[in-house]
Amino acid sequence: MAKPPLDTDMTGRVCLVTGATDGHGRALAKGLAARGAEVVVHARSEEKARRVCAEIARETGAKEPEILLADLSRAGDVDAAIERYRASGRPLHVLVNNAGLVGLGRETNEAGYEMTFAVNYLALFRLTLGLLPLLESCGPARIVNISSDTYRVAKLDFDDLMLERDYGIMKAYGQSKLAILYFTLELARRIEGSGVTVNAVDPGPVASNIGANNEGLAYRLVGPLIRGLFPSAERAARTALWVATDPALAERSGGYYRSLKHRVDPLDFDPETSERLWTESLRLCDLQGLG
Ligand SMILES: NC(=O)c1ccc[n+]([C@@H]2O[C@H](COP(=O)([O-])OP(=O)(O)OC[C@H]3O[C@@H](n4cnc5c(N)ncnc54)[C@H](OP(=O)(O)O)[C@@H]3O)[C@@H](O)[C@H]2O)c1
Repeated sequence: MAKPPLDTDMTGRVCLVTGATDGHGRALAKGLAARGAEVVVHARSEEKARRVCAEIARETGAKEPEILLADLSRAGDVDAAIERYRASGRPLHVLVNNAGLVGLGRETNEAGYEMTFAVNYLALFRLTLGLLPLLESCGPARIVNISSDTYRVAKLDFDDLMLERDYGIMKAYGQSKLAILYFTLELARRIEGSGVTVNAVDPGPVASNIGANNEGLAYRLVGPLIRGLFPSAERAARTALWVATDPALAERSGGYYRSLKHRVDPLDFDPETSERLWTESLRLCDLQGLG
């Protein structure tokens, strides 16, 4: 099979990448800028974002990206970022929901929600619904959600989504990635024909700083292995780059992609679970829904 094209000219397209200050997101933002896109770098640290934006401009010859600040663990920050983006008058053609974390121990955000679920999934849900009207008005547009094959080891326990009873690192991470996948498939169904597509991508293992938010011996031992043994962020970012840019995928929605391939039937898509997660996510985010 021919290799998917990774050289699409993105001139005139505006791409917002969350968590673009490190690892996979940084590599992807650079890849999009190198192909002519106007990139908006989402970050929680302005200082780190400035460094990365200068690096992107230096290495790609593109103009320095704009920065969109928001700590994704705080719903108020996400809402403010949505408002700032809308008020900027800038179009939006590609939203890549990439930011994510793993938590060795259970932590909660200011709303009392488990941190992995809050940052990896609920913030993505909130940001996407908040920016959807803009994406629709700029269509054709794409949403790319970064999930992970770890969804396979997870389940959605609606009686304990915040993992108060039984926390485990893979349980929390896998659950957040499974929720992203369900959301992707459900959103694809709900916005069919709107001019906006939504797909999920597993970048595979990435040599990144994921987990660096954790203190203690475990991460000090595992961190160097992740950075030393896993494929580079540039290599890992190729699948998301492809899904975000290839004109041949312009109308493909509700898919799951890994290793530059489309994975058919990513999960036993249970409409009842999907609907329930949607309703529960709206409730947890205190949102009304689409339209
Ligand atoms: N690494 C892997 O092997 C692997 C495998 C499959 C999927 N993934 C997924 O790929 C995506 C990128 O991960 P990565 O490996 O590139 O990790 P990374 O190097 O740690 O990058 C994560 C990015 O998310 C941002 N972020 C984390 N918490 C945030 C918060 N509360 N508010 C705003 N931004 C926040 C980080 O910001 P700071 O720079 O400020 O920390 C950083 O820009 C994640 O969704 C991850 O789950 C990774």
